[in-house]
Order: sequence, then structure tokens, then C-alpha cells
Amino acid sequence: MTNLEGKKILVIGGSSGIGYATAAGALADGAKVTIASRSEDKLRAAKALLGGRVEIRRLDVSTDAAVEAFFGDAPAYDHIVVSGAAFKFGTVRDQNIDDAYAAMNVKFWGAYRVARNATVAPGGSFVFVSGFLSRRPKPNMALVGAINAALETLAQGLALEMAPVRFNVVSPGIIDTPTRAAMPAEARKTLLENAAKSLPVKRVGQAEDCAEQILLMLRNTFMTGSVVYIDGGGLLV
Ligand SMILES: NC(=O)c1ccc[n+]([C@@H]2O[C@H](COP(=O)([O-])OP(=O)(O)OC[C@H]3O[C@@H](n4cnc5c(N)ncnc54)[C@H](OP(=O)(O)O)[C@@H]3O)[C@@H](O)[C@H]2O)c1
Repeated sequence: MTNLEGKKILVIGGSSGIGYATAAGALADGAKVTIASRSEDKLRAAKALLGGRVEIRRLDVSTDAAVEAFFGDAPAYDHIVVSGAAFKFGTVRDQNIDDAYAAMNVKFWGAYRVARNATVAPGGSFVFVSGFLSRRPKPNMALVGAINAALETLAQGLALEMAPVRFNVVSPGIIDTPTRAAMPAEARKTLLENAAKSLPVKRVGQAEDCAEQILLMLRNTFMTGSVVYIDGGGLLV
């Protein structure tokens, strides 16, 4: 197991939720961390909390040109975590087709673009963040499950295609992050309480539960092509 002291780590989606917790954990381990996402305001707010050592860069992974430009003048990173995605849910029949394409574009093609354009130093690795709907489909979320499954399989293919660069995936269950901030507070509380009751561990996840696994994947040089479900037992119920 290597440690992360002095390693250059890029966390895409590092301004919030799972990405933010990963950035905080990597900084605590002595890594040189860059967080990237679309909103300058969110990045600045995250930097104010994470401290002066973190570097911030704007990036929207939803276009080829932006990802190419970002990595065109970026250094070689030791590790890259892709936790950046935001999209709308809906049934296949009812969801606006452009929103459906946009979801695949940001979460699947975003990670694909990053893998295609980034330079990773020898001994380096990628971690993608998918979601347990890949293995546990739900109504209204068929597309999200399919995107997550595609992302998990992409990482396993890349673990062979781009070896010895390592690729791993953390597949979260229900994690209490700002991703549900737009929901009415009462509905969000009920959703999380019901989810907690249904899970073997009797609580929903926190961003740190996923970050801990992501950091382990960065450190463990014998780990590649792995998909780990951090879901409180959600796949079992
Ligand atoms: N929370 C859960 O229950 C859960 C469950 C399963 C899977 N996941 C997955 O886990 C990942 C992280 O989710 P989270 O809960 O941590 O969400 P979050 O708190 O909303 O954070 C999402 C991050 O992604 C960034 N982002 C969004 N669109 C982007 C884009 N086009 N380009 C670059 N960055 C972008 C956001 O910043 P900007 O707005 O500044 O771009 C933010 O930093 C997502 O892929 C999500 O689908 C989450």
C-alpha cells in the first residue's frame, strides 16, 4: 500500500458531496489536491473550507472541447477521481429525451473523455463513481442504472486497455449529499429516513463512507478493475 503524501490528485466534482469528502481525505494524507467542477462559486466555497493548499480549476466534463482544453495544459496527475455529475431523473416514457441524452453525456461520456485526455503518471490510477442502481434497477431510474452499469464496465475495460494504469469504481447506495438539495426539505427527510429503515445498517451513507473506499483504491496498487458497492447492504434488500 502506498501513501498519498505529495501525490498529485485531481478530483472532478470535488466541490461537493463524495468528491469533496475525497478531496478532504486526500489533503489530510498530505496529497497535492486539485478540485474541478463547473461553478466557480462552489469551487471557491469548497476551497474556503478545505484550506489554502487545495487548487481549484473550472471544468465541465460534458463537452469534448472543455475536457481537451483542461488536460492540454494540465500536469500529469498521479490519481484522478471522477465524481462529477448532475442530471434529471424520469421514466423512459416521460423523461424529456434531451435530458436523457444529457445524463448519459455527463456521467458516462464525461468519464470517458477524462480517461481519453488525461495524462497519468507511472503507478497512477483512476476511480469512477457510479451507483448501485447498476445492479439494483428501480422504476423511474432505468436510465441511471444503465449509465452506472456502463461506467462500471468501461472502467474494467480500461483497466486492461490502459494497463498498468489502474481503474476502479466506487458504486454508492443512498448517500446524504447536497445532490438532493433541490428537493423540498420534508420530502428529502422522509426519503432518507425510509431508506435508512430499509437498509441492514439502519442508516443512509455519508460522503465520507465513499471517500474512504476511494482513497483505499488510490493507495492499493494491487487493486484494478474492482467495483465496490458502498451501499449499507442496499444490494441485499
Ligand atoms: N448521493 C447519492 O445518493 C448517490 C448515489 C449513487 C451514485 N451517486 C453518484 O455519485 C457522484 C457524486 O454525487 P454526489 O452525491 O457527491 O453529488 P453532489 O454533492 O451534487 O456533487 C456533484 C459534483 O459534481 C460536479 N459536477 C456536476 N456536473 C458536472 C459537470 N458537468 N462537470 C464537472 N463537474 C460537475 C458538481 O459541481 P458543479 O455544480 O460546480 O459542477 C459537484 O461538485 C455522482 O456521479 C452521483 O450520480 C450519488
